[in-house]
Amino acid sequence: MAVPGRSSVLVAALIALASVAAVAGEVFFQEKFDDGWEDRWVKSDWKKDDSTAGEWNHTSGKWNGDADDKGIQTSEDYRFYAISAQYPEFSNKDKTLVLQFSVKHEQKLDCGGGYVKLLGGDVDPKKFGGETPYSIMFGPDICGYATKKVHAILTKNGKNHLIKKEVPCETDQLTHVYTLIIRPDATYSILIDNTEKQSGSIYDDWDILPPKKIKDPEAKKPDDWDDKEYIPDPEDKKPEGYDDIPKEISDPDAKKPEDWDDEEDGEWTAPTIPNPEYKGPWKQKKIKNPDYKGKWKAPLIDNPEYKDDPYVYAFDSLKHIGIELWQVKSGTLFDNMLITDDPEYAKKFAEETWGKHKDAEKAAFDEAEKKRLEEESANTEEDNDDADEEEDEADDDKAHTDTEAVDSTNVKTEDGKGASVEKSDDSKEASAEEKEHDEL
Ligand SMILES: *[C@@H]1O[C@H](CO)[C@@H](O)[C@H](O)[C@H]1NC(C)=O
Repeated sequence: MAVPGRSSVLVAALIALASVAAVAGEVFFQEKFDDGWEDRWVKSDWKKDDSTAGEWNHTSGKWNGDADDKGIQTSEDYRFYAISAQYPEFSNKDKTLVLQFSVKHEQKLDCGGGYVKLLGGDVDPKKFGGETPYSIMFGPDICGYATKKVHAILTKNGKNHLIKKEVPCETDQLTHVYTLIIRPDATYSILIDNTEKQSGSIYDDWDILPPKKIKDPEAKKPDDWDDKEYIPDPEDKKPEGYDDIPKEISDPDAKKPEDWDDEEDGEWTAPTIPNPEYKGPWKQKKIKNPDYKGKWKAPLIDNPEYKDDPYVYAFDSLKHIGIELWQVKSGTLFDNMLITDDPEYAKKFAEETWGKHKDAEKAAFDEAEKKRLEEESANTEEDNDDADEEEDEADDDKAHTDTEAVDSTNVKTEDGKGASVEKSDDSKEASAEEKEHDEL
């Protein structure tokens, strides 16, 4: 356990804090994954029994802006990952809470999560897994074409509440910083790379509390409520003889052919053509209804179920930060985690880590891509074996289907409105089993 190291973490954090600027805020947790990180983090035993627990690689990755700036990266495909660290327990009541970390999907992630969780004091880090209750889950999640979003899940009274607003995540293979700020006035902001992507009120953007107002269930539409917007025009009358106009007439221009023999060919009749006078069945014109009152809506009344919770944003116990993921393709690298009450400090921390290295990382990535493409085309030239190529394609297809079939988080909204997230582990297990089954 990381207990002996805890005070040194704090000291390290305080030193780092002092070096950034004079800050009024407090840093609850800060992790740059420098050497010694393994003393501070506990790998869970979750999934070890069935050998589907993945290993972490302490690395700066294949491309980076500073080879010495390491993080931890998922290193095995089709694996579950669960690891956590602890910090002195606190509550964000009456405080601002900032949760921030960077993540890089080097593998060109097509299905997998890149989020972290904050958990309470009653967590056994050795048993931390998909079923472990958490307070906050935050970060990007990608699966297939449909899911490319930032999760921000708040757990209240045992229920996971998803943010109702869409927050698209980054999808490239570079490092990005994700920041969640929750303020004591129950407002929030979500930032990517220090740029605000979403903000608002926790009351509005999560269904944590029941709605303040509901439609009056007693109200009924009055009998004389006219909700027809258009009515037939009483002035519009069917013209006399309208129905007598035939649809077709015999062609006035047709002539009996000269070689027509009435005896042999029968009596000649002109072919019929559409009647230009015919206008179809008569329809009465419609006009705006002068008595139209609009669509009837039940009046809103105060919801008797509603009770304000001024601490809707707050969690009593925050003590662990954890990463719990299922990855089809590994290569997700986490770094520079931070929990503080000071958004300014977080901003500077991001600038001094990600911000300082991002251009060099981009250049390194471009270089690596160039090399990869060159190697790829060299291989294609060498490789004239059609059978091999077909096999490769079949593999690609398979990988694709796998990713489409597996929801990386299994965060399901039960009523389609973004409600509770439960039972995530079962479906993960099912996915893993499907996977194994496929490979038999
Ligand atoms: C760890 O990452 C580095 C850099 O990408 C790589 O060279 C190395 O093979 C990885 N190690 C494992 C065990 O995956």
